[in-house]
Amino acid sequence: MADAPKLPKLLVADDQADVLEAVRMLGRANGFDVRTASSPAGVLAVAEAEDFDVCLLDLNYARDTTSGREGMDLLAKLRDLDHALPVVVMTAWGTIEGAVEAMRRGARDYITKPWDNARLVATLRAQLELRRALRTANRLDAETARTREAELPRIVARSRAMQQVMALVERVAPSGASVLITGEHGTGKEVIARAVHAASTRSAHAFVPVNAGGLPDGVLESELFGHVKGAFTDARSDRTGCFELADGGTLFLDEIANMPVGQQARLLRVLQTGELTPVGSSRQRRVDVRVLAATNADIARDAAEGRFREDLLYRLNTVEIRLPPLRERRDDIADLAAAFLGRSRNGAPAHRFSSAAMEALLAHTWPGNVRELEHVIERASLLATGDEILPSDLMLRPRSSSGEVPRRLEDMTLEEVERYLIERALAAQGGNVTEAARVLGLSRSALYRRLQRGTS
Ligand SMILES: Nc1ncnc2c1ncn2[C@@H]1O[C@H](COP(=O)(O)OP(=O)(O)OP(=O)(O)O)[C@@H](O)[C@H]1O
Ligand SMILES: [Mg+2]
Repeated sequence: MADAPKLPKLLVADDQADVLEAVRMLGRANGFDVRTASSPAGVLAVAEAEDFDVCLLDLNYARDTTSGREGMDLLAKLRDLDHALPVVVMTAWGTIEGAVEAMRRGARDYITKPWDNARLVATLRAQLELRRALRTANRLDAETARTREAELPRIVARSRAMQQVMALVERVAPSGASVLITGEHGTGKEVIARAVHAASTRSAHAFVPVNAGGLPDGVLESELFGHVKGAFTDARSDRTGCFELADGGTLFLDEIANMPVGQQARLLRVLQTGELTPVGSSRQRRVDVRVLAATNADIARDAAEGRFREDLLYRLNTVEIRLPPLRERRDDIADLAAAFLGRSRNGAPAHRFSSAAMEALLAHTWPGNVRELEHVIERASLLATGDEILPSDLMLRPRSSSGEVPRRLEDMTLEEVERYLIERALAAQGGNVTEAARVLGLSRSALYRRLQRGTS
């Protein structure tokens, strides 16, 4: 049993024995290793003795106090003990102000009593995931910084989707087959093309990238196949084309779907015969080149609709590697962020991601994929003033449907925090006011009153 996976450790603090028992059972049933404590002193003693992954803390200790002072004190002491420990507070039904205050003091989330089991478990799991992401990012960053000089940039592939991509790369790389790499802008198509080359038998020879879609017809032709002196007005000397530069190695045709139709025909001929003729020359030259191509377009549709030669597509896509967009592989975000933070340091002092910043990174929809993430981290490491990267340093675009930018609770007024929590609850309950009110521990009419106050 030595190799059994370690269960996440949950510390529950409440002075009611029945609450402790209920959470203990719920936690165990959901894969947590649960410890309980029934007094403030007990909580601190346990937290001092062991490391926990998440803590569920009751705010209202002595049953006759509703001020939650003792709970707030305890929260502060717990945070002194372990700044990274995510604390979720529990408050009695109808005392949302206490939860708001606790979140301003560093609690990560809150639950109202009586709680909903599924929601409690989901809340705890979300905190675990965030903690894991933060740990990886902040640890990997330190590693990247140490091994920077020694290693080539590593390809991040923690997610299952990227594991599959890397397995495919390993399988097709040695074969010499043509590979078509598809995926949205900034998903890492060139990174994967280089990986295919590096893992192939051609790795000792050149990897030559060409932008096949961004050059006018004539320019592309001499770029690919070369020209001889005098072939056209500006051809003052011979020029070796990319095909010949890549002889023995790999030619990477980027943006292939935008390749001019005339060049598509020439390319196809070279691929079929292995021979090319530089512009203005009459002598054919043999080349031994493996071709990798990439596109972010739906090239199969382009072919079906006559914008791209089907016979050429058939030559290029012996194997297709589809790179998933970043939003479909969120497990990679923390590692990528760490890798980019390590790269962008440039002698500046080390930064860490604050928990709120990591939360924002994990929640963002990443329309610009890995490249966008790279730019965001580079900019954030320039903007960060302290040793932590804060959400504001990320300058992420708003993503919520209300158009509201998630901000740090510490920067908001109490009323704004209340509004934020209400909107969040409404969004989580699909706009159902009754459900949102229940989750918030408010009556329906109290919630309506608050909503109206917010809009007036
Ligand atoms: N899996 C990964 N691990 C580490 N870095 C990556 C990874 N994928 C992409 N990157 C980095 O993200 C940036 C964008 O990658 P790349 O240029 O390969 O994307 P692309 O799909 O070719 O983009 P475009 O469609 O805009 O040409 C590069 O700086 C690259 O180093
Ligand atoms: Mg590219």
